[in-house]
Amino acid sequence: MADDSPRMRIVMTAPVDSIIAAATPWPHVRPLQPEDIPWLAAASWEAYQGGRGFETWDAAVASTQSIFTGRWGDFMPVASPVGVTEDGYVAGVVATVQRITIDDAPDSPFVLNCLTIPDHRRQGVASGLLAAAARAAKAVGEHALGLTVDEDNAGARALYEGLGFVEVSRGPEGS
Ligand SMILES: CC(C)(COP(=O)(O)OP(=O)(O)OC[C@H]1O[C@@H](n2cnc3c(N)ncnc32)[C@H](O)[C@@H]1OP(=O)(O)O)[C@@H](O)C(=O)NCCC(=O)NCCS
Repeated sequence: MADDSPRMRIVMTAPVDSIIAAATPWPHVRPLQPEDIPWLAAASWEAYQGGRGFETWDAAVASTQSIFTGRWGDFMPVASPVGVTEDGYVAGVVATVQRITIDDAPDSPFVLNCLTIPDHRRQGVASGLLAAAARAAKAVGEHALGLTVDEDNAGARALYEGLGFVEVSRGPEGS
C-alpha cells in the first residue's frame, strides 16, 4: 500500500566550536559563485531527484539559482566553500545563507545545501566543508550553524549528529 504520510524535515543546529572540534576543515576550498550553477544543479538533480521535490530539471536549476538570489536569505560566500581535490576536481559543496527566511530557523547562518560528488563520498569532504564553513562563520562572530535534513536521510543525519548537530524542530516538507 502506498505511504501517503508527508515527508518530514528536521531543523538542526550545532555550535560552530563543536563542528570545528569534530572535523578537520577540508584543505582546498574556494567560495561558491554563480558560475558554479551548472555543475551544482546537475549534482543536486542527481542527489535529490524525487527526494526534495526536484521533479524536473528546471526545478533543480531554479533551486540552485535561488541560493544566490536572496530567495532563502542573503548568500554568505565566506561560509559557502566548494571543496576541490589536489587534482583540482570538485569534490563537494556547502552553500550557506546569513539567516534563512523560515519560521522555525535558528538565529544563525543556515546551510541550504551540503553535497558531496558520489566518487568522493566517505572521505571527509562534507564534514571538512562544514568545518570550513563553521570556522569562517566563527571568524565573523557567529556562534552556530543551522540546516534541515529529511527525516529519512540516514547518511546525512549520521554526518550531522557526528558534528554535534541536534534537532530543534521538525515538520512536513514545504512547511
Ligand atoms: C550526506 C553526504 C553529504 C555525506 O558526504 P560525505 O562527504 O560522504 O561525508 P563525510 O565523508 O564527511 O562523512 C563523515 C561521517 O558522516 C557519516 N556518514 C556520512 N555519510 C554516511 C552514510 N551514507 N551512511 C552512514 N554514515 C554516513 C559517517 O559517520 C562518516 O564518517 P566515516 O566515513 O568515517 O564513517 C553525501 O552522502 C551526499 O552528498 N549525499 C547526497 C546529498 C545529501 O543528501 N545531502 C544532505 C542534504 S541534508
